[in-house]
Amino acid sequence: MKLFEVYPLYDVTPVKAKGIEVWDDKGEKYLDFYGGHAVISIGHTHPHYVKRIKEQLDDMAFYSNSVQNPLQQQLAQKLGELSGCEDYDLFMCNSGAEANENALKMASFHTGKSKVIAFTNSFHGRTSAAVAATDNPSINAPINKQQEVTFLPLNDFDAFEKAIESDAHCAVIIEALQGVGGLDEPTTEFFQFIANKCKEHHIVLIADEVQSGYGRSGKFFAFQHHGIEPDIISIAKGMGNGFPVGGILIHEKFKPSYGLLGTTFGGNHLACAASLAVLEVLDNENLMENAAELGAYFKEKAAEIPQIKKVKGKGLMIGLEFDFEVADLRKKMIMEQHMFTGSAKNKKLLRFLPALNITKEDIDLFFEALKKAL
Ligand SMILES: Cc1ncc(COP(=O)(O)O)c(C=O)c1O
Repeated sequence: MKLFEVYPLYDVTPVKAKGIEVWDDKGEKYLDFYGGHAVISIGHTHPHYVKRIKEQLDDMAFYSNSVQNPLQQQLAQKLGELSGCEDYDLFMCNSGAEANENALKMASFHTGKSKVIAFTNSFHGRTSAAVAATDNPSINAPINKQQEVTFLPLNDFDAFEKAIESDAHCAVIIEALQGVGGLDEPTTEFFQFIANKCKEHHIVLIADEVQSGYGRSGKFFAFQHHGIEPDIISIAKGMGNGFPVGGILIHEKFKPSYGLLGTTFGGNHLACAASLAVLEVLDNENLMENAAELGAYFKEKAAEIPQIKKVKGKGLMIGLEFDFEVADLRKKMIMEQHMFTGSAKNKKLLRFLPALNITKEDIDLFFEALKKAL
């Protein structure tokens, strides 16, 4: 059997990693400033993470959601404390798309409605309602196009006001800091405006924090830069530092009932151990503060490079915009400078999404390499 080829691959085969260092099968070292697409939050093979998962594996990897699993409650407790979102309940699943799928489903159950508002350049995943709310027709199959989604430009107050007049929407789904789209973000005024309008019209406000959450923006959640309170928050990526895990935080005003949501693998023992290890490291090593501080340092360094036309983003979720398409630059950074970076829907944007415990020296190395590649 061969693989179903849906990924254009770089000719690099990583076999070992530690922190932001990655080695390929020939022993060549690379620096990972992409975090495997914003997934690596506490660094590759962090010793506490490895220990926690190994110990859990020795005890028990999995049992279903039909029995008590105190690890889920421990995780909910720690997540509530660290994020400040103690008025929410946790439902665990396996990926970002599944998190958004469940968030949209909750909104629809709650309101009895089915239309969704999403924003230009959004990315929410590749499954049913999540992909329909993703602004990319080429990854929407006819079966997905049955969902009714109203796409609006970010920060357009009038368009939003007009769209919600129909009272047909169950949810507004928004990234506080767009990832795949290219680091655009709502202004605080717009975010507060839509949060108030959602309350007035009984529309469920979903903050998709799959990429921007878990400290990446310098606060636990990126929406926390804007003083709003979403109804549902979706999480994944950095949550497991590479272990496939996702979830939604559902405001306690939503009442659960048996069978409303469910999953076989979600919240399994290994996923909980990985997720607890991530939160413990985030907390013990002050990684949110590091992300905020190093994000500011990164922006200072970027300002010294004339080819960079715009620096977008917050914390360690940053986009560098050039006045040319960056596909060749990204390839050069990997193949010649041995540094991983990310691309975006905006083809002129190079994305920087490293582990949150990088240092100023790592950032200096990045800029030295970038200058050479330019
Ligand atoms: C903001 C956002 N939401 C959802 C997803 C989908 O997550 P997953 O690939 O884990 O399904 C992504 C993935 O890039 C994302 O960036």
